[in-house]
Formats: sequence, C-alpha cells, structure tokens
Amino acid sequence: MSLQWWFGQTDVIIAFLGLMFTMHTACTLDVNPQYERYLPDYHIYHNVSHITHHLKTLASRHSDIMHIDWTYQSRSGIPQLLTRITNFSQPSGNNVESLYTIDESTLEDVPKVRVLLSYGEHAREFFPVESFFHLLKNLTDGLVARESSYEQRFSKMILSHFDIFIIVIANPDGRKIVESSQNYCWRGTSTGVDINRNFDWQFAQKGSSSNPKDEEFRGPFAFSEPECNVFVDVTRRIKFDAFFSFHTGVRHIYMPFADTASKSSKRVPPNFLALSELAFKLSRATKYQFQYGKAYSLNFYTADGTAFDYMAGVRQIPFCLALEIWENKQHKGHSCFDQFNPHSEQLMSAVEDFHPLYVEIFSFLRHWKLQQFMRGPTLSAEIEAPTMTLSYFLLVAVVCVSLLVAYKNRHYICVTKRRIIHLRQLSSTFTMGGIFR
Ligand SMILES: *[C@@H]1O[C@H](CO)[C@@H](O)[C@H](O)[C@H]1NC(C)=O
Ligand SMILES: *[C@@H]1O[C@H](CO)[C@@H](O)[C@H](O)[C@H]1NC(C)=O
Ligand SMILES: *[C@@H]1O[C@H](CO)[C@@H](O)[C@H](O)[C@H]1NC(C)=O
Ligand SMILES: [Zn+2]
Repeated sequence: MSLQWWFGQTDVIIAFLGLMFTMHTACTLDVNPQYERYLPDYHIYHNVSHITHHLKTLASRHSDIMHIDWTYQSRSGIPQLLTRITNFSQPSGNNVESLYTIDESTLEDVPKVRVLLSYGEHAREFFPVESFFHLLKNLTDGLVARESSYEQRFSKMILSHFDIFIIVIANPDGRKIVESSQNYCWRGTSTGVDINRNFDWQFAQKGSSSNPKDEEFRGPFAFSEPECNVFVDVTRRIKFDAFFSFHTGVRHIYMPFADTASKSSKRVPPNFLALSELAFKLSRATKYQFQYGKAYSLNFYTADGTAFDYMAGVRQIPFCLALEIWENKQHKGHSCFDQFNPHSEQLMSAVEDFHPLYVEIFSFLRHWKLQQFMRGPTLSAEIEAPTMTLSYFLLVAVVCVSLLVAYKNRHYICVTKRRIIHLRQLSSTFTMGGIFR
C-alpha cells in the first residue's frame, strides 16, 4: 500500500490508537477510585470497628459457644478476628476414630465437622461478612428462643455437630482504606496485594500480576502478607473437613483448581465427585441459580496463588470451595460499591436469600461425616464418592454446564481477565487478546 493510502487513514489510526489507549486505561484502572453513585449507610453495613465491636459483644454474651482469638492481625495491627463457634461443653470427638468400634458407638460419638470460613479477603466486598453476621444472629437468636422450639433445636444441632472457625475479616487494612479514602474499588491489603494471589500455590504464574497497581497484584513473594498467617497457622493446627472462601461479583461456586498449571494438566481435586455433589446442591439451595464448576473451566482466565487452591492442594482439605455469592446483573459503569454489594435497604433481604446456602452446607457435611463414621476408621481417610448413578448424573450435569458456558461465551474476542471473578466492571473484564499484559 502506498504512503498516501496510509496518510489517508490517519484519522482511523488515531481513533484506533485512542480506543486502544482507552481500553488500556479501563483495563488498568481496577483499584483506582471511581465516581460512586451509591454509598453504604454505616448504620446498616458494619464498618471495621463495628465488626470488631459487634463480634466482641456477641462473644461475651455467648462465651459457652463462641471464642475470639485476638492473636492474628493485619500488617497495621487490626485483628482479623479468628472466631470459633461450637458447643464447647461437648467433646469435638477428635479421638473418636481411634477409640470406637461400630457396635458400641452411638451417633453421639460422630466427630464434629471442622469447617473454616473466610470473609473479607477483598476489601471492596462488604456483603459476605454481613451474611456471616446474619448466620451468627440466626444461631444466637435460636439459643434464646422458646425452649425446644424448632429455632432452638436448629441452633443446638449446629453447635453440637460442628466446630466452626471463622476468619471474620481477613483483610481489615484494605477495608480501612475503603472506608477512609472512599475508594470503593480498593481490593488489596495496605500494600495493594491481593491476598488471594499471595498463597504458596503456583505463586507468581500467569494468573496474577507483578504490577502493584493491578487488582491482582500478587506481592513480592508467596505469603509476603502477614494477613496470610492466620490461614496457614490454623490449618496447620487443625485438620479441617471443609474450607469456604466468600466473595462477591457474580453467583458462582468454584471448585479447585483455579491455577494455570492445573488448567493445562486438567487437574481435579481428589474427591471430585463428592465435592461436585456439594457444589451442585449449593447451586440449587437458594432461589438463585448459581453456576458451578472447576474454577479453571468456569472461567476463561486462571488465578494463581489462591487461598482455596492452597487449602485443597497443600492442606488437602476434602471440601474446598470459593463462593461468589452476590451479583448485580444491572451494573453498568465504573462504580464499585454497587457492583459488589447490595444497597443498604436491600441488605437484609439479600442476606436472608443467601442463608439457605449455609443450611445446605451444614446438612451436606453432617451427612457426609455420618457416612464416613459408619464406614469405620480405616476408610475414614478416604473421601467417599456419591452413589454411582448420582455420579454419572453429576458428570453429565458438569459436562452440560461447561458446554453451555463455553457456548454462551463463544463470542468473546477479549481474553477474560483473571480473578476469582471480581469483575471491576465489564469493560475492564477483558484485555484485548493479552496485548496489554
Ligand atoms: C463505625 O460505625 C459505628 C456504628 O454505626 C459508628 O458509631 C462509628 O462512628 C463508625 N466508625 C467509624 C470510624 O466510622
Ligand atoms: C435459623 O435458620 C433456620 C434455617 O433456615 C431456620 O429454620 C430457623 O428458624 C432460624 N432461626 C432463627 C432464630 O431465625
Ligand atoms: C451444650 O452441650 C451441653 C451438654 O450436652 C448441653 O447441656 C447444652 O445445652 C448445650 N448448649 C448449647 C448452647 O447448645
Ligand atoms: Zn473477592
């Protein structure tokens, strides 16, 4: 083509470069402040200090079922509030496996299910911890409900069959930044690190960023963030049955793994079928249809160094899920608060809508534990698959869902940006074929 032809195209070229620049900017604006058209009412939403205060009040009122461990703190010294909820006057059954014989044992001997819940890893996602406060209110209200009422039996049942550990606010520094700077797009720690890319599992691979301004900034080395200590420590001390990491941005249930290497090797967690059964049930537990699947199949991006991959891959916790529990389908533009959280007036109904998912988690895990117990101690290390027909059904369901997702997304010209789904917003969801990375 002649030089003249090219000169004739300058307008087009300039426009194209302009567009590229805009998209580039849109793609890297992730954690910068945006115009927020809606701000939370802190009489309804908890702020960081209120989270601590409220939890402390409940723990002192219910010291027979609730303890807070103040040891674990953020870089700037704000407690992450590792909380333990169980009926402390009932044994947790840790030694039961070595003691019992099936004939003599009773259902009372079934060990408690040990669960670890993690909230507030991402600063701008306020909703998950509110759902936890709702659960806590459900349990504690139940205890003071009418003697032998359903509410009371429900609470006592949960507290006697479960030993629940909760990292109530994994990243309080980030929350502090959001509240004081009014930058509701902030996601990282005080140093801007996404702790959900900072774990020692496939650290620093493609599914994370070395750019401190990127929302998926992984930090200088694995576990560089003191906020990760609580996760590592508590899972070293206690052998958990399940780990759940709560987020918002979409309604998805992710099974491990999310990392790039697992995607190419098609790695599946060892108890894939049982885990799929749980994921399937959770996807149906509320009035919303959650999508579920292995993170690397459900998403077109991968995420390296995530907490739940670490728990599944390194700690070998049988049931690990990342739960994305709220979305705003109507969201447009750049604002963050209303992308990741319901308006204050809708908070109550949103946490109520989500509550059945907790109930399903409890019911499934209790049932699983019972089955394990019945099968005897030698088998107890194995994770049992659901019945064969169900397994086939699930397999078919997973395949169908995957095909559907692949079909629905076939027109994407951009490569989805990696993140355990935290779409800043749709325009920054995509990077043009990786050109800008
Ligand atoms: C946090 O919320 C509580 C309760 O609404 C309020 O009294 C307090 O002033 C707030 N603290 C900050 C630092 O905003
Ligand atoms: C707690 O949740 C369960 C399950 O949804 C429900 O049946 C029970 O009534 C709730 N208890 C209270 C006190 O709200
Ligand atoms: C805790 O367990 C004890 C012993 O079984 C029982 O008497 C008590 O009512 C339980 N408390 C709660 C809050 O569930
Ligand atoms: Zn998140």
